[in-house]
Parts: sequence; C-alpha cells; structure tokens
Amino acid sequence: MTVVGCGYLGAVHAACMASVGHQVVGIDVDGPKIESLQAGKAPFFEPGFEQVLQEALATGRLTFTTDMASASGNTVHFVCVGTPQRAGENAADMTYVNAAVGALAPKLSPGDLVVGKSTVPVGTAARLAAIVAEHEPTAMLAWNPEFLREGFAVEDTLTPDRLVYGLPPTPAAAATAKAMLDEVYAIPLSQDTPLVTTDYATAELVKVAANSFLATKISFINAMAEVCEATGADVVQLADAIGHDARIGRRFLNAGLGFGGGCLPKDIRAFMARAGELGADQALAFLREIDSINIRRRVRMVDLAREVCGGSIVGRRIAVLGAAFKPNSDDIRDSPALDVAAQLQVQGATVTVTDPEALTNARRVWPGLNYADTALEAATDADLVLVLTEWDQYRSLDPGDLATVVAGKRMLDGRNALDPVRWRNAGWTYRALGRP
Ligand code: UDX
Repeated sequence: MTVVGCGYLGAVHAACMASVGHQVVGIDVDGPKIESLQAGKAPFFEPGFEQVLQEALATGRLTFTTDMASASGNTVHFVCVGTPQRAGENAADMTYVNAAVGALAPKLSPGDLVVGKSTVPVGTAARLAAIVAEHEPTAMLAWNPEFLREGFAVEDTLTPDRLVYGLPPTPAAAATAKAMLDEVYAIPLSQDTPLVTTDYATAELVKVAANSFLATKISFINAMAEVCEATGADVVQLADAIGHDARIGRRFLNAGLGFGGGCLPKDIRAFMARAGELGADQALAFLREIDSINIRRRVRMVDLAREVCGGSIVGRRIAVLGAAFKPNSDDIRDSPALDVAAQLQVQGATVTVTDPEALTNARRVWPGLNYADTALEAATDADLVLVLTEWDQYRSLDPGDLATVVAGKRMLDGRNALDPVRWRNAGWTYRALGRP
C-alpha cells in the first residue's frame, strides 16, 4: 500500500500497517522528514511511535520516499495529508489534498483503491472520485476517516474504537472496495472492532461531527466554569457529579484553558464554513459560540494572572509550565498555553516557558519568549507560576520544592490539574478556572 502524507497521521498509519504485515511505502514532499523516517527517527514526539517505526523498518516491509512514482504497483493508496485552516478564513485549505490526489491519480493501475483519511469538507470524496476515474476508470475511492488522538496515535491506529468506510455509490465497486479495506483492517476486524459502512458524505461528516461534539463537551463545561466563577461554585465537583450520569459521562468534561491543537479548532471552523456553502449555516451557528467560549478562557486566564498579581503584570516575572496543546505531545498548533504565555508577555510581563517536549517547536514559532529546560528553572525568581499543560511532572510538582525558588508563592492552575488543598496548605495562593 501507499501512504501519501507522513505527518502525525500518515507516518503512524504507515508504520502500524507495516507492523501488522502489509507492504507499505510512505510518500511525502518533505525531504528531511522522509530521511528521518527512513532512518528510524520520529520527526515528532509521539509515545511508542519510534519503536513501531524501527521494528517495521527492520521487517523490510516499510520504506519512505519523496517519489510518487513509488505508488505504482501498489493496490491501496491512503491519502493522509493535512487540511489546515486557510489563512484569514474559517475554511479548510485543500491545497495538499488536491496536490496529493493530482499526483497520485496518474500512477494508478486498474482496480486500485484510493482511501481518503484526511479531514475534509463534505463533498470532497465525490469530487476526488471523479478525478480518480478520469485517470483510471476501474480504480475506486473510499473515505475512511481517522480518529486518532495525539499521544495515543499508535494505540488508536492498531486498536481503533470503530472503523468507518464511506463506499462508492455503485454496489459492485462498493463491495470490492469494502473487501479490500476488510483485508487492510483484518486484525482489528477480527477483534470485533465496530464497523460502519456508509456513503461518502456520511463518512466525511462522521469525523467533523465527532470533533464538533468533543469541542462542544469541552466548551459546555467551560461555560459552566464561567457560571461557577460568578457564583463561587466548583466546576470540578460539578463535572464529577454530572459525569456520574452514564448519558453524560465524565470524559472530556475537564474544565480549564480549553481545546487547541491541529484538529478541534480548525475542524469546527471548517465545518461552519462548509455548512455556510451548503446553505445550512443556521444548523451550526452554535459552533461559533463553542469557539468563543473556548477563546474566552484564554482571556480569562490572563485576567486572573493580573488579579493575582495585584492588578498589574507589568514587570512581573511569570513562569509558564507547558507549551504543547496537551500533554504527551510536542505539538504547539493553536496551543492555549503558548497563546496565554504570549499575551502575558505582550502585556508587559517577563515570561519564561518550559515544556518536556515542545520547546524546540515553541522557540521556532515564539522566539520572543524566554525558555527554560525544567519547571524549577522556569520558576526561579517568578512572582507567579502557571500550569497550562497538564504534563504528569507538573501534576506531581512538590509545593515545598517550588517554594524554595520562586519570588512569590502564587500558583494559577489552568488545567485543574493540582490539588488546591495541598498547595494552599503549603502557603501558596492557589487559583484555578471555575473554582473558588
Ligand atoms: C482530537 C480528537 O480527540 C481525535 O479523535 C481526532 O482524531 C483529532 O482531534 P487531539 O487533537 O489529539 O484529538 O486531542 P484531544 O485529546 O481531543 O484534545 C484536544 C484539546 O482539548 C486539547 O487541547 C485538550 O487539552 C483539550 N481538552 C480535552 C480539554 O480542555 N478538556 C477535556 O476534557 C479534554
């Protein structure tokens, strides 16, 4: 098989597919990335990935190249390229998907299957199927959305919680495409992974609907946090209590700085943009509010920092623990933590950021911030410490240890990750979003 696009999604997919026995060629236009992957070195931090990559390379079933000609002779071709937000617009940038399919289509042989995995605006699969058919009338296209979470990418790829196939409209092509995908996913299917077979549009929508629901869940609890702040109630206890209702569930109800990353923010925006094009914008008007609630948390965090510093952060030294958009990742795309760090700095504070994995990426994008390798180093002489990404090492920080280096014992917990009683008992001013 071919895997076009070797980012978080494609590289993990390629290595995992080779690890379960398939012959895989990973293709990307990024030369240094391909060299790194071919050398068994992960170009990004993803727990467990490098080991799977090295083991798969050692079997001889996995290779990486920048040459699309290597797709010739393969039978299943995955499209895993990115669909970032278009600059200055809500819509998704389809440049990479269009380029990938445009380059792949002339390499197809009769009976090949192109499988889209990228998150795309609904209607894309039908459009791409026409391009595929133009080049190779007997080739087929299926849409097979991917639900992997960064930090759990290997696990989510090898043991997905469900598989979704968006199949071609003709019954014969649908049956052939399904049989080919069943062979690709023989192992998870043998483990009773639920499978939903459907049409292109539904498969495309499954992905954005899932991410919209998750974003809504997070913004719902963050809206409750705003109300808690106005009343003196505790959003963590509120989430625990409503989470006991199995219909609601406790997962994705962690109030705090809100969602960031390369998926949720841009996916809900692209979904709104697409709904607008389809004349269904009213249906998704609520997502605008979900987005606003999310962004308001970042603003509130900066305000809270000012409040705790006695009304002004000008000239204050502030330590920010966490740069990645979430723990166990080095991804800083739309990172709430870095957004807050940059705002604090712009508003006059001297900000030092630390993160176990994301500093190289952070330095590249925000060269104006100060960086330190450890939490203790970042917190040295700080008037205020903020935990903005809930890495385990920050959760388990000892208030006594940290107290020995700071200038002022003020802790803002942007992820509700610390135990308020423990920090207050150690003499710290502890504040968090949505808690008294
Ligand atoms: C998400 C989806 O979970 C995944 O299924 C999809 O394929 C891609 O997008 P990911 O972006 O890796 O995955 O991160 P996720 O774990 O969903 O977290 C997204 C953001 O929400 C993070 O910034 C996280 O800190 C935040 N979050 C998550 C909360 O603020 N509260 C929560 O309760 C959960």
